[in-house]
Amino acid sequence: MARKKIIAGNWKMNMTPSQAVALVKELEPLVKNDAVDVVYCVPAVDIVPVVEAVKGSNVQVGAENMYFEDKGAYTGETSAEMLVDAGVKYVIIGHSERRDYFKEDDELLNKKVKKAFEAGLTPILCCGESLEQREMGVTMDWIRLQIKSDLKDITADQVKELVIAYEPIWAIGTGKTATTEQAEEVCKGIRDCIAEIYDAATADAVRIQYGGSVNAGNASELFAQPDIDGGLVGGASLKADFGNIVNY
Ligand code: PGA
Repeated sequence: MARKKIIAGNWKMNMTPSQAVALVKELEPLVKNDAVDVVYCVPAVDIVPVVEAVKGSNVQVGAENMYFEDKGAYTGETSAEMLVDAGVKYVIIGHSERRDYFKEDDELLNKKVKKAFEAGLTPILCCGESLEQREMGVTMDWIRLQIKSDLKDITADQVKELVIAYEPIWAIGTGKTATTEQAEEVCKGIRDCIAEIYDAATADAVRIQYGGSVNAGNASELFAQPDIDGGLVGGASLKADFGNIVNY
């Protein structure tokens, strides 16, 4: 089965609402490519103006985070329902920066994945190892633990819709991309893990991105790998170069 590639920008904590709209307009002619899914994951405050700005284009909007509770006394949080109502389709869950700086653990992330599906959002579930873990040789053990914990009680039908982003922490924002072989090896390992927990059809359907210093120079080789179905792009998603990544 041919999986449609998905190329998502992760804007992180960049772009004020007015800068965001200007960037969307600058990128609009550059990211036209109906053969792939194009997503901008943007800061919460940019969601409403960006949804408006991408109207009529091939771009869909994602959030960078959400909370798992429906509503109530959770100062500063954003619910899945709020995202859906605002026009959001995707939500990044478990980015390594959230795991690290905001102490989000797998139990919490599992609740977020469940809630996202319940609300009709597509999670982009992030996983990845630190440099120490890679050097210790426990990369795949660690990622399998993340995947199994974060997908607890998630059904095969849901996983078929899921996007997983493999992002080695040591390659994020460092300019140090994993080699194509390293990236493919882990993305294949993740697919094998999904086959083991679910079945071959689910593993065949789930889309697995690579993230970590993806740029216009390395995208085509990475995305040509059999188990890499696109990218989650940080720094390079804020520049015109993102168009070259989308049209790799
Ligand atoms: P980067 O970030 O492309 O700037 O390395 C990727 C990410 O953190 O999603």
